[in-house]
Amino acid sequence: MNRRFIALGAAALLIAAVIGVLGLRDRSTRTGTVKLGMMLPATGTFAALGTAIDNGFRLYLNEHGGKLAGFDVEIVRVDDESDPSKATANINKLLKRDNVQALIGSVHSGVAMTMAKAAKETNTILVVPNAGADAVTGAMCAPNIFRSSFSNWQPGYAMGEVVAKRGHKNVVTLTWKYAAGDESVGGFKEAFEKAGGKVVKELSLPFPTVEFQALLTELAAIKPDAVYTFFAGAGAVKLVKDYAAAGLKGKIPLYGAGFLTDGTLQAQGSAADGLLTTLHYADGLNTPRDNAFRSAYFKSYKREPDVYAVQGYDAAQMLAVGLAAVKGDLSKKAEFSAALRSAQIDSPRGSFVLSRSHNPVQDIYLREVRGTQNRVIGIASKALADPARGCPM
Ligand code: PHB
Repeated sequence: MNRRFIALGAAALLIAAVIGVLGLRDRSTRTGTVKLGMMLPATGTFAALGTAIDNGFRLYLNEHGGKLAGFDVEIVRVDDESDPSKATANINKLLKRDNVQALIGSVHSGVAMTMAKAAKETNTILVVPNAGADAVTGAMCAPNIFRSSFSNWQPGYAMGEVVAKRGHKNVVTLTWKYAAGDESVGGFKEAFEKAGGKVVKELSLPFPTVEFQALLTELAAIKPDAVYTFFAGAGAVKLVKDYAAAGLKGKIPLYGAGFLTDGTLQAQGSAADGLLTTLHYADGLNTPRDNAFRSAYFKSYKREPDVYAVQGYDAAQMLAVGLAAVKGDLSKKAEFSAALRSAQIDSPRGSFVLSRSHNPVQDIYLREVRGTQNRVIGIASKALADPARGCPM
């Protein structure tokens, strides 16, 4: 009788303890705010890109009562100026002073590489909402690093096939000399030369300079069949205008990764008309998902969304998937990772899964500039996965 009494008492204590722990947990998740560090450019060549990413991210939040997976979020924002030399100081501020629990950023590949290195060293969750640096989901891949955008290789590779199919044989490439330009050209060259084409000259200038004149003169002298280019933001606006002003438009076809004409068409005007580009988003997809996203975005910001807005929106969606799986506890890296690895992200671009290295496996659209739209005219490459070279995962 006595023993039975003790056993019952112990069981009751155990149940009370379990309830206590659960209760505590429940309270901590209910009141716990997830602190996020967002590093994007608010100034410089890529300022508009950073704004669109932030807008997309906030749209998702607003659609969900200001929460991610039901959890309150606090966002600490830093203007990284797309300046890799300031990246380490900016990341340290977020991680050490502000004690953020996860990082989001950035636009520029050089900045994102420094973020990936820091995320790896400190085992912090990182979601990259633009920068395509191949290494982020290649040699530097990690269980805690994810991308909601693309690898630089992806649109380049897709365009290499398109340009070859269009019968061009000799191509000159023109880009900024840094990871994104080099890798975009690398993807293009890989596909184009595999299909029998030849890249006869690789022209470049330092990021973020835009003195194109000498290079355009050289291009005109070489007279290639076509040009492949990677530029974005304010630099892309200037290149497209200068190309037309130099009398090259209509003479030597200009092709590009879609950043050349995304979010830039108002400023480029008729100089961009007819340009063909490849990208993982386009105008005129006309799916219920994209139409809903576009009207909600327009309602909030009084402007049409672009690829950057989509990537920001999807970065928020991805964080929500992970946070739901770990019930707001970002220290549970393995569970966070597992949830994203098996997730289907319902993106306005079309739904996608992540590759083993955590880069979107996605359709790359062929788009044609008509007025102020990058109209979809086909799929250049279906479910294209980055090769993730050097990723041991
Ligand atoms: C990059 O640096 O990776 C980058 C920047 C702007 C873009 C695309 C890629 O539009």
